[in-house]
Amino acid sequence: MNQKVKEIIGRAFRVFYSTGRLVDMKYGMRPMIRYIKKNNNSKQLVGCEIGVRKGTNAENILTILNMEKLYLVDPYEAYTEMQSNGKTVEDSPHIFLEAAKKNLKRFGDKKAFIFKKSEDAVDDVPNNLDFCYIDGCHNYENVKSDIELYYNKVKDGGVLGGHDFGVAFPFLCQAVVDFAKKNNLVIYGARRDWWVIKEMTKNS
Ligand SMILES: C[S@@+](CC[C@H](N)C(=O)[O-])C[C@H]1O[C@@H](n2cnc3c(N)ncnc32)[C@H](O)[C@@H]1O
Repeated sequence: MNQKVKEIIGRAFRVFYSTGRLVDMKYGMRPMIRYIKKNNNSKQLVGCEIGVRKGTNAENILTILNMEKLYLVDPYEAYTEMQSNGKTVEDSPHIFLEAAKKNLKRFGDKKAFIFKKSEDAVDDVPNNLDFCYIDGCHNYENVKSDIELYYNKVKDGGVLGGHDFGVAFPFLCQAVVDFAKKNNLVIYGARRDWWVIKEMTKNS
């Protein structure tokens, strides 16, 4: 059996095994989402994703988790982010927005698009989120700001995390590690996902 066929079978198996259904042949269920599913006693969840692009992960979240509402924060504007090889990435936002609308149409009011940069959308997102998944601009300052702003939006015991914790994005990793160290938090991780559990505040 050639390597490509093995990869496809392996991926399909992982997705079926973890969800009981075929969700996303390309990426499978993101580990942070799997963690939330495993630890949720079937209550309806309110969550947020920062950086939505074509809605691939949002579609998985809305399919896999028992969602009351998923807030989707993305300005759909061209942006630039630095990778480890010094190259920058720029996107064609209007194409991604059309794809996201199409991919997420069937979820109706369970989704709410917020067409703003994450730093400007804080007041549009409710407090006490069950989780926030950060996957916007991956530069150090952006990730730092997203973590700091949205950690405050997550309820005690809720989950804050995101994507691309890996060698391609050392600045993103640095921002995550700096925050966890400063707040004495354990970083959980699998594949390219990372997440922390929000500490209970003293008076709760
Ligand atoms: C890596 S893609 C997101 C992929 C998506 N989370 C998924 O897994 O399917 C990054 C997205 O972040 C968005 N973005 C860039 N800067 C942003 C910012 N300041 N606030 C929110 N989103 C931002 C971009 O428009 C782009 O759609």
